Amino acid sequence: MSVTVRVPAKINLHLGVGAPREDGFHPLMTVFHAIDLVDEVTVSDAGEWSVTLTGHGVDVSDVPADDTNLAVRAGVLLTAHHEIGRSARIEIRKGIPVAGGMAGGSADAAATLVALDRLWGLASGDAALFGIAGDLGSDVPFGLVGRNALGTGRGEQVEQLPGVEVTRWWVVVPDPGQGLSTPSVYRRHDELRPDAPATPPAPHRLVAFLGDPAETLAPLLHNDLQAAALDLRPGLADLLAAGEAAGALRGLVSGSGPTCVFLCADEAGAHRVADDLRSRQPLALVASGPVPGALGR
Ligand code: C5P
Repeated sequence: MSVTVRVPAKINLHLGVGAPREDGFHPLMTVFHAIDLVDEVTVSDAGEWSVTLTGHGVDVSDVPADDTNLAVRAGVLLTAHHEIGRSARIEIRKGIPVAGGMAGGSADAAATLVALDRLWGLASGDAALFGIAGDLGSDVPFGLVGRNALGTGRGEQVEQLPGVEVTRWWVVVPDPGQGLSTPSVYRRHDELRPDAPATPPAPHRLVAFLGDPAETLAPLLHNDLQAAALDLRPGLADLLAAGEAAGALRGLVSGSGPTCVFLCADEAGAHRVADDLRSRQPLALVASGPVPGALGR
């Protein structure tokens, strides 16, 4: 018997970053948005933990296929929580670009929690699932809920923003190079913004206008980490300008980067921007959101 769970990529419509906390993490005030670039995670009973990866339009060669994979760690934490001595084979079909600021590894961990919970009939409940997800990584709880959500704490406290189902069209351009290390982007941000507040301000306007037309939303998109990502990877500025010149309403670095996302007015516009950007980048994907997370609610 096996169980398959689909889980989407995230982008941040707003990412406010405060001064580092005592534990080294940064307080965040973020609006997560799930888009339909998805990974599919299939779990089945096995005598020991294993993980296999296949890429669907994305390169998976840099993803660890051993016990350090966050999906395996999710399974191990779930069995520890329930004090059961079980293990599973985890198969991941990846459609989310890797190492790009789209939380693909976190998404797989979220999907693994939900899939194993169903496979073994654990009925863990939300409190346990969200607790384990938060322990695994800052973006894992959002992988459970998807759609639109406000993220606080270090990103792991998620509160769904209900009732905002307007479809948004995006062009997603993963970086063809080496990726950017998330800790190094946060460190550069600390250097560039020594005055960052202890608590980043809430994005009231964005939340209020979330259901408005894309033209209204575009100027409200914001990412505090963008300056640091551009500083470490100056070529991203040209890419953002090229997307906007091709007709995107707004280009933005996704999370800590280096993937860039472009909000477009409609589907046809998104395809035009993607076609244009493919002349300079190997991959430009058209995606839309919001879509549900691993829990499928
Ligand atoms: O929580 P996660 O494992 O995704 O975080 C990866 C790294 O990103 C952390 O080790 C930390 O350097 C940085 N980070 C941070 N503040 C956050 C989230 C992540 O400094 N709120």
